[in-house]
Amino acid sequence: MNKPVDINRGKPVEIGVEDLHEPLTYGVEAFVSPEYAKAERELLWPKVWQMAGRVEEVPNVGDYITYEIGDDSIIVFRTAPDTLKAYHNVCPHRGRRLIDTPDGKNNACGHKNKIVCGFHGWTFDLDGKNIYVHEPQDWKNQLTAEDTALSKVKVDTWGGWIFINMDLEAVPLEEYLGDAARILGPFQFEKMRYKWRQWVIFDCNWKTALEAFMEPYHVAGTHTQMLEHGDYYAYSAAYGLHGVSGFDQRNPDLMMKQSSTITRAGKGEDPRVSTYELQNEIYTTVNNASTTETLVNAARRLVDELPEGTPAPEVIKHWLASARADDAARGVEWPTITPEQMAEAGLAWHVFPNMSILQGITFALCYRSRPYGDDPNKCIFESYAIERFPEGQEPKTEWVYAEATGEKWGMVLAQDFGNMAAVQKGMRSRGFRGTLPNPHQEQKITNFHRNLAHVMGTGSPRLLKK
Ligand code: FES
Ligand SMILES: [Fe+2]
Repeated sequence: MNKPVDINRGKPVEIGVEDLHEPLTYGVEAFVSPEYAKAERELLWPKVWQMAGRVEEVPNVGDYITYEIGDDSIIVFRTAPDTLKAYHNVCPHRGRRLIDTPDGKNNACGHKNKIVCGFHGWTFDLDGKNIYVHEPQDWKNQLTAEDTALSKVKVDTWGGWIFINMDLEAVPLEEYLGDAARILGPFQFEKMRYKWRQWVIFDCNWKTALEAFMEPYHVAGTHTQMLEHGDYYAYSAAYGLHGVSGFDQRNPDLMMKQSSTITRAGKGEDPRVSTYELQNEIYTTVNNASTTETLVNAARRLVDELPEGTPAPEVIKHWLASARADDAARGVEWPTITPEQMAEAGLAWHVFPNMSILQGITFALCYRSRPYGDDPNKCIFESYAIERFPEGQEPKTEWVYAEATGEKWGMVLAQDFGNMAAVQKGMRSRGFRGTLPNPHQEQKITNFHRNLAHVMGTGSPRLLKK
């Protein structure tokens, strides 16, 4: 057993296996053990930066959202046009939740100019200061401003996301995100807005759910219909706490350097046709996400706009230029991302511990998962698409509970969802000897478990063969 490492007090040092290219294995404790889930509530969740929502959810002073994690509930308020503040959602008097968050609901949101506790009426301003105590003389003048103020939580933003950290000594968000923020910076996620957002409860651990989206290795086994349109051989890599996966550049016919993200040519004789087919397949089966209507429409025109025999790199170049022009005409500006930046960013990122971003030039498909109560076999899973929209034309969205069906989520996500409970059940079998992650394509997951082991003080992934 290792000792837990407090990531806010001293930089994580690499422990256990260093080279994630080696065939490694790790046990299922992190997925199935009630004690482990309980320990996460002490060692993990109170220490890490967690995505609590998007800045667009709190546009006006007084707007708030809550973020629920385990027994903790955090309120994030916009307290000034350029300031967000976060507090524990608890009254310092006798502990009533200040903003009710009904069980099973993922988040609350609303607007308040002050916070009035529903129990005895203590009142707080948006800065967390107590502005009313009922009959304060009863305390014999001993209550200080500190005693009666709300408990603070750290809050910061990156890429249009609001992050919170319950550890007031936590390393700054930018430092925590490290290379992930640097490499993803050019995508300017802060200019994107929600397209849709849905959540569901799964009968699996929060890690089981998140990991289903951390590697394209499962495409061949889970999304067999997609094999017709593309090659999904992937690489994966660790960046400290976080990790990336992308389509491997080993097949230069199919993958151009600048198209190492989802925006790339498909598989087939005629890249004009296959590019469209892949985009259309993605758009229609991934719930109108992971590409955009602009990109699909521009791809559809390729057969009319380019002569037969145009090589794939030129097809992609033409396609992206015309999509960019189409977007410009409707008021959507594309960020400038160099081919090198695009290649480095790959396809999808895991941001430790529970956030996933699958990015494209003007869009991203994201996931977040959290424990449900203290049951290691259940989680709250959310997915949302963000996209650049012409100003004022952003759709109005809210969190919608959606059963895990193809109708509600699209065929591809429903296929992923079909594995969740089955993996969780399988891992509880006494016949399961431990995980065998793919040393090339699933390093992102192994890195996740290495970092988790580090924070939790449990055994790190180990070499399969000594
Ligand atoms: S618990 Fe909030 S005023 Fe008493
Ligand atoms: Fe999938």
